[in-house]
Amino acid sequence: MSLTNHIAQEFYNRFQKQPALVMAPGRINLIGEHVDYNEGFVMPAAIDKHFVFAMTPSGNEKCNILAFDYDEGVSFSIHDLNPGEEWINYLMGVLDGFGRRGLLPGGVDCVVGGNVPGGAGMASSAALCSGFAYGYNHIYNHQQERLTLARIAQYAEHEFAGVNCGIMDQYASLFGEKDAALFLDCRSLIHQTIPISLDSHRLLLVDTRVKHSLASTGYNDRRASCEEGLAVIKKKYPEVIALRDVTRTMLYECQDKLGEDTFIKNMFVVEEIDRAQRAAERLQRKDMQGFGDLMYEAHWGLSQAYDVSCEELDFLVMLAEEDKHQVTGARMMGGGFGGCTINLVAAGQEEAFKEMVRQKYFATFKKEPEFYDVQLSQGVHVI
Ligand code: GLA
Repeated sequence: MSLTNHIAQEFYNRFQKQPALVMAPGRINLIGEHVDYNEGFVMPAAIDKHFVFAMTPSGNEKCNILAFDYDEGVSFSIHDLNPGEEWINYLMGVLDGFGRRGLLPGGVDCVVGGNVPGGAGMASSAALCSGFAYGYNHIYNHQQERLTLARIAQYAEHEFAGVNCGIMDQYASLFGEKDAALFLDCRSLIHQTIPISLDSHRLLLVDTRVKHSLASTGYNDRRASCEEGLAVIKKKYPEVIALRDVTRTMLYECQDKLGEDTFIKNMFVVEEIDRAQRAAERLQRKDMQGFGDLMYEAHWGLSQAYDVSCEELDFLVMLAEEDKHQVTGARMMGGGFGGCTINLVAAGQEEAFKEMVRQKYFATFKKEPEFYDVQLSQGVHVI
C-alpha cells in the first residue's frame, strides 16, 4: 500500500469519515545558502520526499492529531497553543499564525506521516508546517494565497520553534514545480522557473547522518552577525536595506568597524548572493561544468568563511572534488552543521561514486552514509 493510502486508511479507522488529502514535499537547494534572510537569491526545488496529511475540521475547538510514523496521538484545544521543540508545537504555531489573522474558526482531525528525513537538511519542518497550513486553509476554505501560507509556516518556526529562519524552505515546499528549480528573489518573493533535466546529470544527496538542529546550533548566531554588520554599514550607507545591497567595496570600506569575524561572514553573504546569480545564468545556458564549479566554491565559503559546515560534510565534498570528472559539483546543503551534501553526478557514474564514498566514509567515521537520489517535484497540493 502507498503511504497516501496508509494515511487515508488510518484516518478512516480513527475518525470514520473521509478526509481531504494533502501532500507536502521537502526541498533541496542548488545554490544560494544563508542568503534568504539577507534578501538574496536562492535556487531551491521541491523533491519526491514528502509528508501526507489526512484532515477534516473536527467540529469543535479540539485538534486530534496522530503522527503515523510514531504512532503518537495528541489532542489539544485551539485556545491552548504552546511553543516548544516537539513536532506538535510546529503545528500549534501554524494554527496560531491563522489565529493572528482571525482565521481560526475551529480544530482539526488529522493523521500525518511521511518520508522526509528529519535533521538532514531537506527542510522537514518547513514541509510539515507548509503542508499543515495548506491543509487547514483548504478544509476551512480560507482562500489564502500560497505566499501567505508560506509566511504562516515561517511564523510557526520563528515563534513556536525558536528558529529565526528565512522563507526559502516554506516557499520551495509551497511553490515547487516538477522537473524544475525556482530561482527565487528573496526581496520581491517572485521566482523564475529553471527547468532542470536530469539526463546528463543526476542529483544525489549524501547524508552524513550527523543530525543538526538549527535552533541549538549557530543558525540564529549567523543571522545575528548579518544584522550586526548591516547596522554598521548603514551608518555609512543609510540607503542600504539588507546585505543584498552591499558590495565588496562597501564592506572593505567598513572593515575596521565591522570586526574580523563579522567582516568575514558578511563577505561570504555578499559573495554568495553574487554567486547564485552567476549560477542561474550558467544553468540557463546548460553550462553544467560552470555551474558545478560554483557549487564547490560555495561549499568552501560556507565551510571556511561562514563556518556552518562540519568535518563529515567537508570530507564528503573533498571526496567529490577529487573525483571531479564524475562529480561535476558538490556542496553542503541547507542550514549546515550536519545533514546532507548535494552532488551533481554525471549520469551513469552514481553507483561507482556511492561505492567509493561508502568505503572511504566508513573507514574514516565508522558509520555508513545514507544516499538519496532525488527527483524534482510539484509543491504542496491536494491529492
Ligand atoms: C535553513 C533555513 C532557510 C535557509 C537555509 C540556509 O534551511 O530554514 O531559511 O536560511 O537554512 O540557506
